[in-house]
Amino acid sequence: MRVFVSRIIPESGLLKLREAGLDLDVWPHALPPNQEVLLERIRGCHGILSMLSDSLDAEVMDAAGAQLKVISNFAVGTNNIDLQEATRRGISVGNTPDVLTDATADLAMALLLGAARRIGEAQSYVKAGAWKSWEPIGHMGVDLKAKTLGIYGMGRIGAALAHRCAGGWGMKVVYCSRHPKDDIAPEGAERVDFNTLLEVSDFVSVHTPLTEETRGRFNADAFKRMKPTAVFINTARGPIHDQEALHAALKTQQIFAAGLDVTQPEPMDVTDPLLSLPNCIVLPHIGSATIQTRRTMAAIAADNILLGLEGRPLRCSVTP
Ligand code: NAP
Ligand code: GLV
Ligand code: GLV
Repeated sequence: MRVFVSRIIPESGLLKLREAGLDLDVWPHALPPNQEVLLERIRGCHGILSMLSDSLDAEVMDAAGAQLKVISNFAVGTNNIDLQEATRRGISVGNTPDVLTDATADLAMALLLGAARRIGEAQSYVKAGAWKSWEPIGHMGVDLKAKTLGIYGMGRIGAALAHRCAGGWGMKVVYCSRHPKDDIAPEGAERVDFNTLLEVSDFVSVHTPLTEETRGRFNADAFKRMKPTAVFINTARGPIHDQEALHAALKTQQIFAAGLDVTQPEPMDVTDPLLSLPNCIVLPHIGSATIQTRRTMAAIAADNILLGLEGRPLRCSVTP
């Protein structure tokens, strides 16, 4: 059985694959293969262990060949894979949910605190040698205590952030999701419509998958509805916000600040005007990047490959 792994992942995963005696091809470079090289490398593969930055559509599945049995994504999000096409062809698709929930909620919390308290801006100020005295009216941010948190997408990660904010800071929580989430949301959390979420929240944090419904949801109209003191956080997927509209809202102080772990495109171009704004923190998509989390994700992704090759149900599956 031939398996292509599109980047070097933690040893906990590679070891499982090596020990299974597969014909294993691990892309060894720091940067991903371009699409042409990817199409070449996956020809004849029975399994592909993919990254969220690989786009796996019908063309890629065709290039692999009819023997392809399993795609194992090293991520919880699977918007980079054409799931309908995989299902139609009987290809199992796996992901790595749950084990990255706390790490990603922690990063959303870090962005929330960082944007609220202007950490990025203040750090640059010190490093630039601009710190000349203690400033009674300098670097003033916004408080978290007893404020309102709006969660767009009350799933695993959204709920984990909501519990941190409700418990640690006594925040009131409102949320959007297509179904009520009384089972996972903090006690007293209120499900509201999208415009209410925008209008009442002091912090708005995005946690839905990228779908046709969520793409571009945070547009100019959405930012206009938010409070001028509001902080916008996105750790889900870049295309859920309209980046030009976000830039305009931050530049004209329609909202107070933003913290992004995801952008459109990724990687973000260093000339992107968002990077010149003091009130925007941008991170290079590191939500799940803790040593322990990435190790566990690698083990699950490898198990998904091995089970898929045997035609057995995956540990974590997103196809029927
Ligand atoms: P999840 O448990 O499936 O939660 C997603 C939530 O979004 C669900 O509660 C779902 O509820 C809600 N939702 C879906 N469509 C919606 C819509 N149109 N409007 C409102 N709510 C909607 O997923 P998760 O594990 O929390 O992960 C969420 C996303 O975070 C992933 O898909 C991934 O893109 C991203 N992520 C990013 C990082 C990172 O490194 N930055 C790490 C992990 C995950 P309903 O079905 O009831 O609507
Ligand atoms: C990361 O973005 C993931 O979806 O796991
Ligand atoms: C600040 O350092 C204070 O003591 O209030």
